Amino acid sequence: MTDRIIERRPTVNTFEAMTARRSIRKFRDEPVLEEDMERILTAATRAPSGKNSQPWRFVVVKGDRRSEMVGIMRAGIEEKKSMEWDTGSSEWTAAIMEQAPVTVFVFNPEGTHPWLAHSIDQNFQDLVNIQSVGAAIQNMLLAATDMGIGSLWICDVFYAYEGLAAWLGEDCQMVAAVSFGYPAESPEASPRKRVSEVVRTVGS
Ligand SMILES: Cc1cc2nc3c(=O)[nH]c(=O)nc-3n(C[C@H](O)[C@H](O)[C@H](O)COP(=O)(O)O)c2cc1C
Repeated sequence: MTDRIIERRPTVNTFEAMTARRSIRKFRDEPVLEEDMERILTAATRAPSGKNSQPWRFVVVKGDRRSEMVGIMRAGIEEKKSMEWDTGSSEWTAAIMEQAPVTVFVFNPEGTHPWLAHSIDQNFQDLVNIQSVGAAIQNMLLAATDMGIGSLWICDVFYAYEGLAAWLGEDCQMVAAVSFGYPAESPEASPRKRVSEVVRTVGS
């Protein structure tokens, strides 16, 4: 991965990319170019992080390994259903992951599994690391939008947390997955709260 990749001229400015980005849930049956995935992952590594600790690791799943990944995801969902969990729209998410040519799993190597007890110190450290990882994920989504590549940020992988982490050979904290591919839909923007609803100013 080289800096040459990040230096390629953007096609839209950052604010346009933030506004144009959508969660894409229908992908064309077409692989994403290797160099485009490299650019997306390079963008991730350019994110800010607490004390520049860069608490992220990425595992890219593509092509012939997708069906195994989705099998494990579905097994996890079935197990949670048998335990009477509300599994929401996770089956739909699994079908999207099956269709997307690439899914990137994002891990926090400094984090522990969510079901283990955490000290207050660890909880604060987790807050710092999760923000850093979130910035890296958002960078990936914006870089993808810039190149006309669709993306879906996924936390439904938590229904198969243990199975997927073991399959990927990771023993640290799984934060999310992101599916990528060329979009086969152009969804309308999802509604947003007005700025005045979510902002409170203190001082003049
Ligand atoms: C942390 C996070 C987790 C998400 N998990 C899922 C998911 O598991 N499945 C899914 O279909 N969408 C998922 N989404 C996408 C959201 O549903 C979507 O961002 C939201 O509805 C707003 O739509 P937009 O992204 O098109 O603006 C997730 C988004 C975030 C930020």
